Amino acid sequence: MSLTVLDHPLAHDLLSRLRERGTGPAEFRTLTRRLGWLLVIDATRDLLTEKVTVDTPIEETKAARLAEPLVAIPVLRAGLGLLDAVTDLYPDTIVGYLGLERDEETLEPRDYYAKLPRMEGHRALVLDPMLATGGSGSAAIAHIKAHATPTSISFVCIVAAPEGVARLEADHPEVPIVAGALDRQLNDVGFIVPGLGDFGDRLHGTD
Ligand code: PRP
Ligand code: URA
Repeated sequence: MSLTVLDHPLAHDLLSRLRERGTGPAEFRTLTRRLGWLLVIDATRDLLTEKVTVDTPIEETKAARLAEPLVAIPVLRAGLGLLDAVTDLYPDTIVGYLGLERDEETLEPRDYYAKLPRMEGHRALVLDPMLATGGSGSAAIAHIKAHATPTSISFVCIVAAPEGVARLEADHPEVPIVAGALDRQLNDVGFIVPGLGDFGDRLHGTD
């Protein structure tokens, strides 16, 4: 398993604004999308390419074109915030959806929706901004493995807790994680500390 935590001034700036208690849904969505670009660029830095010859106005030259299509799987609801970042950068991405909701008492994920496309020959990007206990992330990856055969699966999140990273490492050691930050710990009700609160509620303006 590999964990990559973004270390870029723009990522730090965007994350600090997302963490701010006073950031409302309109700005929160924009910040999420912009940070998503950086995360997705990092998660796809080793995508396969193929050599082509292009005819520039000056001469023919060798170049590279993308040769590994993507499937994005946002985990509802919070993962929807990262979907536009993927399709902005990779417009041909196909999209599947998984609905998972964490039980507030047990912290176990409840599976309430799934619509996954065929994934043969595609790299799967699981989009879920918060990796807290890792229960939802692990369940999402297990669901994909049970129903589809992508070439590989990567997990993209905005904030990870050490507990969630350890859970994915134990359950799905081959899945790389790309995160905007690795925070300190979980609190006694399963929220990431310092974190940014309930991502889904802040993104969608609910509470
Ligand atoms: C949040 C988040 C993850 C999950 C992380 O979703 O988007 O899916 O919690 O917690 P875990 O790592 O402990 O499983 P939530 O259940 O709040 O649903 P929502 O996105 O619909 O708000
Ligand atoms: N889900 C969230 O939205 N935030 C957390 O801190 C933990 C789980």
